[in-house]
Order: sequence, then structure tokens, then C-alpha cells
Amino acid sequence: MNNTPFTVMSPEEAANFVKNDDNIGFSGFTAAGCPKVVPAAIAKKAEEEHSKGNPFKIGMFTGASTGDSIDGTLARADAIKFRTPYQSNKDLRQAMNNGSTAYFDLHLSHLGQMLRYGFLGKINCAIIEASDINSEGEIVPTCGVGIAPTICKYADKIIVELNSRHPKEIKGIHDIYVPLDPPLRREIPIYKVSDRIGAPAIKVDPSKILCIVPTDIENEGGTFTPVDAVTARIGDNVADFLVREMNLGHIPKSFLPVQSGVGNIANAVLGSMGSNTAIPEFEVYTEVIQDAVIELMKQGRVKFASGCSFTVSNPTMDEIYGNLNFFRDKILLRSQEISNNPEIIRRLGLITINTALEADIFGNINSTHVVGTKMMNGIGGSGDFTRNAYLSIFTTPSVAKGTKISAFVPMVSHHDHSEHSVSVLITEQGVADLRGKSPVQRAHAIIENCVHPDYKQLLWDYLKLGTGHTPHNLKACFAFHNAFNETGDMHNVDWSKLL
Ligand code: COA
Repeated sequence: MNNTPFTVMSPEEAANFVKNDDNIGFSGFTAAGCPKVVPAAIAKKAEEEHSKGNPFKIGMFTGASTGDSIDGTLARADAIKFRTPYQSNKDLRQAMNNGSTAYFDLHLSHLGQMLRYGFLGKINCAIIEASDINSEGEIVPTCGVGIAPTICKYADKIIVELNSRHPKEIKGIHDIYVPLDPPLRREIPIYKVSDRIGAPAIKVDPSKILCIVPTDIENEGGTFTPVDAVTARIGDNVADFLVREMNLGHIPKSFLPVQSGVGNIANAVLGSMGSNTAIPEFEVYTEVIQDAVIELMKQGRVKFASGCSFTVSNPTMDEIYGNLNFFRDKILLRSQEISNNPEIIRRLGLITINTALEADIFGNINSTHVVGTKMMNGIGGSGDFTRNAYLSIFTTPSVAKGTKISAFVPMVSHHDHSEHSVSVLITEQGVADLRGKSPVQRAHAIIENCVHPDYKQLLWDYLKLGTGHTPHNLKACFAFHNAFNETGDMHNVDWSKLL
């Protein structure tokens, strides 16, 4: 029943407010908290317009990746003019890599303020998934916040997808805070992971709300690949390293808050940390709260989690909603500007754990581009956390595609995180602690400890080909990538042919 003064509309009616060339802001972060039925109706409208020979494309501001209902349906309908800041959808990836969609890959913590500063143009409409809304224009988000507070404030108009799958009782789990912009900005007053600084709902001008679209569609929650031998080994290597650091006094006995990236490795790492009893119970100050965090919270291993979304499988989402009284005082969902905020990351002293696509022997990281040219997903929050961490760790399996790709190459083919920001590299082979080491010393630590045995000699040989402080050989530095492009296998590097 609609107890608000707002008009109820179908997805198709709501989609009619969206015009060709509009810029649309979407709520949510990953698939969590994203609208679903209105974007699908916009995609249908785009296809209809295209069939009549009319142009129809929108610009898209999102929190991060979204569900297939947004990125997939709109990409398949060729309805995306530009897209920022992060994505992980295969159809959208294809559109970005073939040039039909312009993609602007950006640090996630920057987007809210860039929109407010006006760097990225106007937001014509915000489409927000809500668990509740009242007549004063207080919108309670669902399971992800993303950039919703800023787009609600700056969009000309707002469409609300009111999703009854999310209980109204979730109110109180969100902490909605938008910092003042320079020159008025003050410190963001989070001094502990659990500090609440904002409101439980997003307050908007009710006159901007075009309509409410009721839905009951479940979250497009992903599944995690079960931990395998490689991810388990990486997880254990991370946990053992952190215990050593604690015993050396580098990490306080009470531990420090942890950020862990997206995906299966991150889930495995948290699992290993949880089961390693030498690590005390800890807090999480992160971007996505994944299944492993919820599991560890139930076991009493994670005391508190601050994040931007519940990026969990649907069974885990149901479990959270079924036990809100247990989780309510242990979790806060914030906007990405706060969950990924450099000031807070520095202040709290985060241990950050992210995944590299490739690394070079001097400690530079490529998180985004396959063989230097094809966009995989985007930088996401990895830069926000890595650059500002107390201890920044990157994990990766040492090889990909069987063993045809070495994750360690002479020089990264695209550069996201520099040697200056990366403290430790960890693979299933072992741990390279890069702190306080020169480039050559770093290369030794990485080749000895992290590189797959198949590629060690090739990389030792490369190290002899260069001169200078960082001994690169510019004729040979992309030999691994060239061998892969030409033969499909990095094993086929032959230094003698290159020099
Ligand atoms: N060169 C080419 N391809 C590679 C590769 C390399 N060096 N390393 C891995 N791949 C391929 C894999 O084979 C796999 O391909 P497939 O999908 O065809 O099987 C794909 O890349 C993904 O690899 P996978 O090992 O499954 O990685 P993942 O799911 O753990 O994701 C990243 C790794 C780097 C893509 C992902 O973590 C990411 O997008 N990171 C950037 C954003 C980020 O760090 N966010 C966290 C901040 S909170």
C-alpha cells in the first residue's frame, strides 16, 4: 500500500521520464542496492527507439559495478553513452573494449565529490532502490549505498524503486553523511570503525520525486567459487604473514581494521584470517562486506564491519535479514566516499588486501588491463585503500590460464598502483615483503618468493639485461606480453631473439 503522496507508476511509465542523452545516477554498489526494473524498462525503450531509427543512449553514474539488470541490459541494448566508475559485466566490458561505450575508470571515493564539483556534468535523474520512503522525502536505501546520497541531492528528478524484498526494519543500518566541499570541509569524524556520523536515511526534496515503482525482485547476489588449493594457500600465506607482523610488534596485539577487496581470493583470505586463532578478533573497514565477513561475525571473529554494501550471496542476504537484531549493532553501511575515504583509511591504520591482475618484478601493479589494452573491470577502490594503507598487501595467483600467463612480468603493461604504495606481495608460492628495499632488492624478493617456478629463470635472466637504478631493458620489457600475444603462452620468451 502506498502511504506516501507520491504517484505509483509501472517501470515503463517511469522509464518514459528518461530521454536520449540524459545522465542518470543509479543507487547501489555492486549488484547490492541497485534498481532493477526501471533500468530494464529503459533498455527496452532504447531498443524501441533504435528500431525506429532514433538515437537513444544515456550517461551512467553508478556506485561501482551493478547487477545485470543495469549494466547487462543497457549494454546489450547499446544504450550507454558513457559509464563511470567501475563495472564487471561481460557485455559492458565488450562495449567498452570495442569503443561503443566511453568508460571513465575512476577511484571510487572520488565520484561523489566530482559530481558535486560539477566536473562530470549534470545528473538529470537519479534512480534509487529503497526499502522505505516517507512523505517527508526520507529514503531508506536497501543493501548498498554507493553514491546515492550525492545523486539524490544533485539530480533534477528522482525515481524510487520501492523493493519489498528488503525489510523496512533495515533502517538504522545505514549511516548517511555527505561531507562539506572545500573550502568548508572539516575532518570526517570517524575515529573508530563503529562511529556513526550521519543519518539513517537519505533526505531529499519531496518535490523532486517523480514516482514510486513498487517491486519485489530479489537481489542479484553472486556466488563464490569454493576455496581451492591456490586461494586457500594465498589466504594462509596472508594470515601467517599478519601473525608474524603482530609478533614483531608491527601490528598492535589488538590488531588493526582490515579492508579486503572483491572476489574469491578476498573471501578466502578472510576465511584464513578467521580460522587462524593467533589473530585476535578484528574489525573490518572495507568497501564490500562479503559472505566471509558475515560468517566470521557469526563466529565472533569479526567484531564490527563498516562497508558500502552487502555484496553477498542471496542465502547470506536472507540470513542477515532474518537476524537483523543480531547484525544491527555490528554493521554500518556508508556511502563510498566515506567507506573508501583516504583520511579515514590513514587515521584508522588499515591493513588493505587487494588482488592484482599482474605485477612486475619491481612491485608495480596492474589491476585493470589485460595485456595492457583490454579493460577488465576497473580500479575500483583498490587505489583509495592501497595508497593510504598502514600496510598495503596485494595478492594474486602466480599464474593464470593454466600456466600460460605469469602474473609476474618484467614491466607491468598498465600501471594502476606504483611501487611506492605497495608494501607486500603474496601468492600461493609465498610472501615478498617489499618495505625498505631498493628496486633490485624488491626484484629478488619477488622472484624468490612469489613467482611460479616455470617463470623464475626467465625473470632472473631479464634482471641481467638492464642497467641503472631500476634495471629495465626497454627492448625486452614487454617480451612476456608479446610472447602471449604471438603464441598464446608466456613460456615462449626467448631473450636471444630480442636483443
Ligand atoms: N593477464 C591476463 N589475464 C589474466 C591475468 C593476467 N595477468 N591474470 C588473470 N587473468 C584472467 C584470468 O584468467 C581470468 O580470466 P577468465 O575470467 O577468462 O577465467 C580473469 O583474468 C579474472 O581472474 P581471476 O583470477 O578470476 O581474478 P579475480 O576474480 O580475483 O579478479 C581482478 C581479479 C584484478 C580482475 C579484480 O580483483 C579486480 O577487478 N580488481 C580491481 C578492483 C579492486 O581491486 N577492487 C577492490 C577494492 S575494494
